[in-house]
Amino acid sequence: MERTFIAIKPDGVKRGFIGKIISRFEDKSYKIVAMKMINVTLEQAKKHYAEHEGKPFFDSLIKYITSGPIVAMVLEGENVIAGTRHIMGKTNPNEADVGTIRGDFAQVKEYNIVHGSDCTESANREIDIYFDKSELCENYKTMLEIVMEH
Ligand code: RTP
Ligand code: MG
Repeated sequence: MERTFIAIKPDGVKRGFIGKIISRFEDKSYKIVAMKMINVTLEQAKKHYAEHEGKPFFDSLIKYITSGPIVAMVLEGENVIAGTRHIMGKTNPNEADVGTIRGDFAQVKEYNIVHGSDCTESANREIDIYFDKSELCENYKTMLEIVMEH
């Protein structure tokens, strides 16, 4: 089963959309394996967005992600990486479909409210940046998993 790293970015937290955003993923029955609210350190931010280092928006991206707490999550499910990115919508909220998180809650790509890993390697790397192995809740089954066993 695939895992991904999802974050509700500081604008999502400040605007009071934590519950609404988590609901979108719960509605799809993705399993929440870990979740916490944290202040991202400069070191974590630079590691997370290392692929964008040198780009014109890098400094403002780091400033944005460290501008307030985020809600960090690990989600699990069938094709969860592509599925969560579909639910989030395109990077630029003006191009994101209505019904997606970015399409419904954001206006500009600099403040696009959520993050989701873009491939398995990114997911593993990002989960490692934000979570200790002991924080991953491996010890419970969702109702979906229980029903599927019968
Ligand atoms: P994310 O990593 O946050 O889930 O977003 P993404 O894959 O859809 O987009 P990515 O290309 O990885 O960009 C990372 C974040 O950088 C900001 N960005 N600003 N000003 C700009 O041109 C620009 N381009 C990207 C966005 O916050 C984007 O989510
Ligand atoms: Mg990305």
